[in-house]
Amino acid sequence: MSFSSYFTHKTGGDSIFSVEAPKIKFGHGSLNEVGDDAKALGMSRVGVFTDPRVAQQEPVAKVVESLKSNGLDVEVYDQVAVEPTDISFKQGSQFASEGKFDGFVSVGGGSVMDTCKASNLYSCYPADFLDYVTAPIGKAVPVPGALKPHIACPTTFGTASECTGIAIFDLLEMEVKTGIVSPMIRANLGVLDPSVLSSLPPLVRAANGFDVFSHACESITARPYTHRTAPESSQQRPLTQGANPYSDLACLEAIKLIGTHIVQAVNDPLEDSYDSLMFAGMLAGIGFGNAGCHLPHGMSYAVAGLVKDYTPEGWPTDHNMIPHGISVIVNSPAVFRKTGPACAERHWKAAAAMGADLTDTKVEDGGDILADQIIGMMRETGIPNGLSGVGYTMDDLDALTDRSYAQKRLIDNGPMPISRDELKELFSEAMSYW
Ligand SMILES: NC(=O)c1ccc[n+]([C@@H]2O[C@H](COP(=O)([O-])OP(=O)(O)OC[C@H]3O[C@@H](n4cnc5c(N)ncnc54)[C@H](O)[C@@H]3O)[C@@H](O)[C@H]2O)c1
Ligand SMILES: [Fe+2]
Repeated sequence: MSFSSYFTHKTGGDSIFSVEAPKIKFGHGSLNEVGDDAKALGMSRVGVFTDPRVAQQEPVAKVVESLKSNGLDVEVYDQVAVEPTDISFKQGSQFASEGKFDGFVSVGGGSVMDTCKASNLYSCYPADFLDYVTAPIGKAVPVPGALKPHIACPTTFGTASECTGIAIFDLLEMEVKTGIVSPMIRANLGVLDPSVLSSLPPLVRAANGFDVFSHACESITARPYTHRTAPESSQQRPLTQGANPYSDLACLEAIKLIGTHIVQAVNDPLEDSYDSLMFAGMLAGIGFGNAGCHLPHGMSYAVAGLVKDYTPEGWPTDHNMIPHGISVIVNSPAVFRKTGPACAERHWKAAAAMGADLTDTKVEDGGDILADQIIGMMRETGIPNGLSGVGYTMDDLDALTDRSYAQKRLIDNGPMPISRDELKELFSEAMSYW
């Protein structure tokens, strides 16, 4: 079998990619089966994680009812912080440790599912907080063994946290976002019921849609798995391996679904579009869970971590924040213009999938065509105008660059090497687009 020439073998590079498929259940009514699923996973006393707003919504009521009607003992923790921090992860871990649970269910967005993963980890294997956090910020100590069973029920569609072995948080003292990455923290089951999306505010829908797009587009334009140095043993092959034929398949379809539905879904949603959005988020999650993201996400952790006074419409107003999807997409057009020449055809295909008119265009201009298409769609969905739209000025370029340059795992997964100066230039290009 021969794959695309993008995967041509390079001396010293890996010749193998592995596929970690998450266990997923998808469809209307699936939340009503969570009690049954929890029992099948051996749970009898369940800690349910959610945030204060989602706690008031139907999905939590459905899940709690399903657990109780299956005879399970349930305690709800509704204090998850939106865009979690090291402090809120520790508070969740304390709840998980004290409750003597034998399993967990998370009902909410990425903030809730990530907090549940981390709380499960630290309650099962207590350690200094930075031990399990990725290097160089943390010590990247391997997770010692299996965790307690966890069923993740997303109420957003962007993060695909139900599919991934990733938990992201804001490390307050360093003003930077970072995370824990291990296949051991992945949920045992993801339960996706598209009807939960009907109550999402418009800008949350937009931020989620662009997060999905960027997961998928970063995955197909990532460094090919054949160019990552071959590991010394199979156990050292990373979870995120670079672009590969399996993730390509899921990601191009995810981009097509977002391209077709996101503008309408933000401005005037149709009931049908929720199925497509939720499915797109899941596909991109499967893709980036194996391939990995690169520069737009690597830059986003500094953009979110250094927030000044931005308060987005649709999120809680108790603290300033740049929500994840927004902190990613403000970087993406600048990045894809830069990375275009490294794999033009892949950028061109992504532009086509997003709905760009390719009449009379050249494949080698793929990066610019894709960037222009994203900018047009950002404007149509109310996304801020680049970094200046979320409160940054040229005076912030060095701080943004220094904090992102530390995200080595992501920067190295791009299709071309990027120096510190080039990274600074990308932030400068991302300052405003229109
Ligand atoms: N683990 C991963 O693989 C991964 C990947 C990408 C991002 N993340 C992380 O996920 C977090 C962002 O998650 P998110 O975008 O899903 O949003 P979120 O969980 O932060 O929620 C955003 C807002 O929407 C509200 N909300 C959620 N569901 C709702 C619903 N159905 N109806 C009404 N309101 C609802 C929440 O209360 C909150 O105010 C960030 O911390 C980000 O870094 C994790
Ligand atoms: Fe993301």
